[in-house]
Amino acid sequence: MIIVASSNGKVGISAAMRVLRNGGSAIDAVEAGIRLVESNPQDKTVGLGGIPNLLGEVELDASIMDGQTLAAGAVGALQGYEHPISIARKVMEELPHVLLVGSGAERFAAEMGFDRRELLTEEAKEVWEERLHKAIPETMLANLKEEPALRQWVKRVRESPWAGGTVNFLAQDADGNICAGVSTSGQGWKYPGRVGDSPLIGAGNYADNRYGAAACTGLGEMAILAGTARSVVLYLKMGLPLEEAGRQAMKDLHALASLYPGTMNIVALDKDGRHAAFSNREEAVYIYMTGETDEPEELPRVLVPTGENNRRG
Ligand code: GLY
Repeated sequence: MIIVASSNGKVGISAAMRVLRNGGSAIDAVEAGIRLVESNPQDKTVGLGGIPNLLGEVELDASIMDGQTLAAGAVGALQGYEHPISIARKVMEELPHVLLVGSGAERFAAEMGFDRRELLTEEAKEVWEERLHKAIPETMLANLKEEPALRQWVKRVRESPWAGGTVNFLAQDADGNICAGVSTSGQGWKYPGRVGDSPLIGAGNYADNRYGAAACTGLGEMAILAGTARSVVLYLKMGLPLEEAGRQAMKDLHALASLYPGTMNIVALDKDGRHAAFSNREEAVYIYMTGETDEPEELPRVLVPTGENNRRG
């Protein structure tokens, strides 16, 4: 039994491990762990308290993949629900679809009995406003919602780097089944409706019991363009050891360096429970717990540069 997570998963990893110790499945553990991160208002990159889009709306993305069946569920650009990971799980279990977005995802959440809630906290609003006021003239800010050309302002606000985030959980249960889950509020100040890698199976999330699993945090556009999570699992399928599979998936990002010189982080797990994580930033870490450990352990990620200028965010 093992759980591997991005370091902001610390608030949920012990609960996830308790689920496994009590005989729960990898899917139950991933959902339980991520829900606690989604409820943590201190985390400005996931769920409640996430930094909103350019118009001040918190839009959430999440996905979950079952490595036993290869079934997956995901939601994108979801507003007004605290636990996108649970709604993603319901998409996987209740619909003949993989991904729902926007108003359709919200309709489905209501249909499944999830409660609506305001996700914009005062603290997140302050951070959001501070940057808006620096980048956009006051006259424009007053009518931003009516502004027909938002794209220039998204670029302006996002010119200075922002330490983005997202949470990843990978779990392998006592039966050897693997599950991967990802949840995020995405890029702060994004264009409304922007969807990142987190709900895109193959980009930010992939799990297959036969080989392993991987999930990403960082600049989602990079993982989308390189199919990063699926690449790790495909390299495992091709017989590469875990550390080499992760390195190769990171090296694939080199080709994007001039277009997207951003941060990329991967957590990975192979079918035998070996784990590793990768980053193009120095001093990045991840956490894990096994059935034998009482506390989460922190380990360094393998540093794999992907370009000349690894901007944060
Ligand atoms: N990796 C999260 C995002 O780019 O939305």
